[in-house]
Amino acid sequence: MKILRTVTELRNWSRALRLETEPETQLDTRLETRGAGAKIGLVPTMGALHAGHASLIRAAAARCNAVAVSIFVNPTQFGPSEDFASYPRTFQADCTLAEAQGATVIFAPAVEELYPAGASTFVEVEALSTRLDGLSRPGHLRGVATVVAKLFIAAEADLAFFGQKDAAQVAVLRRMVIDLRLGTEIVVCPIVREADGLALSSRNIYLTSEERVRALTLSRVIHHAEGLVAGGQRRSQVVVEAAREMLAAEPSLRVDYIELVNWASLEPAEFVGSGTLFAIAAWVGNTRLIDNTVFE
Ligand code: PAF
Repeated sequence: MKILRTVTELRNWSRALRLETEPETQLDTRLETRGAGAKIGLVPTMGALHAGHASLIRAAAARCNAVAVSIFVNPTQFGPSEDFASYPRTFQADCTLAEAQGATVIFAPAVEELYPAGASTFVEVEALSTRLDGLSRPGHLRGVATVVAKLFIAAEADLAFFGQKDAAQVAVLRRMVIDLRLGTEIVVCPIVREADGLALSSRNIYLTSEERVRALTLSRVIHHAEGLVAGGQRRSQVVVEAAREMLAAEPSLRVDYIELVNWASLEPAEFVGSGTLFAIAAWVGNTRLIDNTVFE
């Protein structure tokens, strides 16, 4: 599988694909309309790929003629006391998995390629970047928006695939695409869970077997909230209180947030309606886990 290391290589790969399928179209028109010609898919990741990433790559391969998977542990989305240095890096295994799921190329730049010396340009999606994960991890969503904007600009992809598990990230990126009029459409894929309900995450490998059992409380809380709403409960306060009680019954978990919000604005929702996001974040030992559901 081809491994691209520079922005120029990625851009040339993407442009060559378009030229192959629509040689007579002017470049400017192609960039504006993106819909014409080869459908190029992008799956941004930080590596340590698991079945959740595999589902994104398969979704991209099903809808696109060519798929680039980026593998880049992005320093700007980690706080100073977070796990940037120890974040799992499993490059060879990632390439094997990505290829088996239908990726065409891997984009794996060095940090200096995306952040040249003196880099001082950032993308801040105001308000949204300071809610949910953005509140407890200051600067995190600014780092995500910045690196994803760089990837979108470099790849010139038609579609980019993200998991619903990072729901606050999705809200920020959707807003960014609208505001910057980026020509890449965001496709959100469902959360992938283990058979016992645990949402897949690259950070699950940090859990001891005992912590992993305790971590199941998160998906149970999500399931319980879904049941309450399916049973007709619409008052957010009632759903959140029930979740809080369940989480309190597992004292070894430290709750970061339990919220019902409008998924687009991340503003608190008083009542559960279409597009309401129920999201939780909790610490299990030293590992912070997130989970959510979206009500239709
Ligand atoms: O979801 C992730 O893995 C990361 O936040 C992303 C989107 C690849 C940006 O670094």
